[in-house]
Amino acid sequence: MARLDPARETGRLRLRPFAERDLDRLSELVADPSVNRYLYSEPRTAEAARTLLDERLARDPDAPRIDLCVALRDSDEMVGDFVLWWDPTHRQGEMGGSLLPAHQGRGYATEVYGVLLGVAFDELDLHRVVGRCDARNEASIRSLERAGLRREAHFVENEFVKGEWTSEVVLAQRAETWRADR
Ligand SMILES: CC(C)(COP(=O)(O)OP(=O)(O)OC[C@H]1O[C@@H](n2cnc3c(N)ncnc32)[C@H](O)[C@@H]1OP(=O)(O)O)[C@@H](O)C(=O)NCCC(=O)NCCS
Repeated sequence: MARLDPARETGRLRLRPFAERDLDRLSELVADPSVNRYLYSEPRTAEAARTLLDERLARDPDAPRIDLCVALRDSDEMVGDFVLWWDPTHRQGEMGGSLLPAHQGRGYATEVYGVLLGVAFDELDLHRVVGRCDARNEASIRSLERAGLRREAHFVENEFVKGEWTSEVVLAQRAETWRADR
């Protein structure tokens, strides 16, 4: 199962597979400098967004990965792009995502991570899920912590990204502690 099928709804959001109608919003998202600031990627063109959407639409449903379009529940307008992928052998998952700037600061990422943790532990039977961020990416670290992940590691200058040494924070949640926390 590598699709969130059927789509899930939370109080404010609809989490569903990507569709052709998401191209304009996805183009906005990948072109935004602030969204790319702490990612490995640079702001990308509309053509690159087209390629990205085509890859999403063609994804093998048996691949251990869920690409999730986060849309507003009322209008179905795309506001974010999230992913959960996993290693079936070790039952380890990793999640992350981006929101359009106009939709940040509303708790949407925390809401999405909550759903993804439920999928990871209750449906996929994963043992542990991590989030990895540039140590300067405080908004991302806070949203993962709000979703219940704990800081496990802070690697100092372990990567060379966009011309500089960067440090990485790893946060994690295990199935056992996630169940105990609820
Ligand atoms: C990472 C990212 C998705 C987090 O988005 P976010 O909107 O900051 O996080 P949340 O959706 O969890 O929202 C939490 C914020 O909304 C506020 N908020 C407002 N209404 C809220 C509500 N109803 N429920 C919860 N939080 C709410 C919180 O106070 C919090 O603000 P604070 O962090 O200033 O205290 C976003 O910063 C982003 O897209 N960044 C660019 C891409 C990126 O770096 N991705 C991470 C890669 S590792």
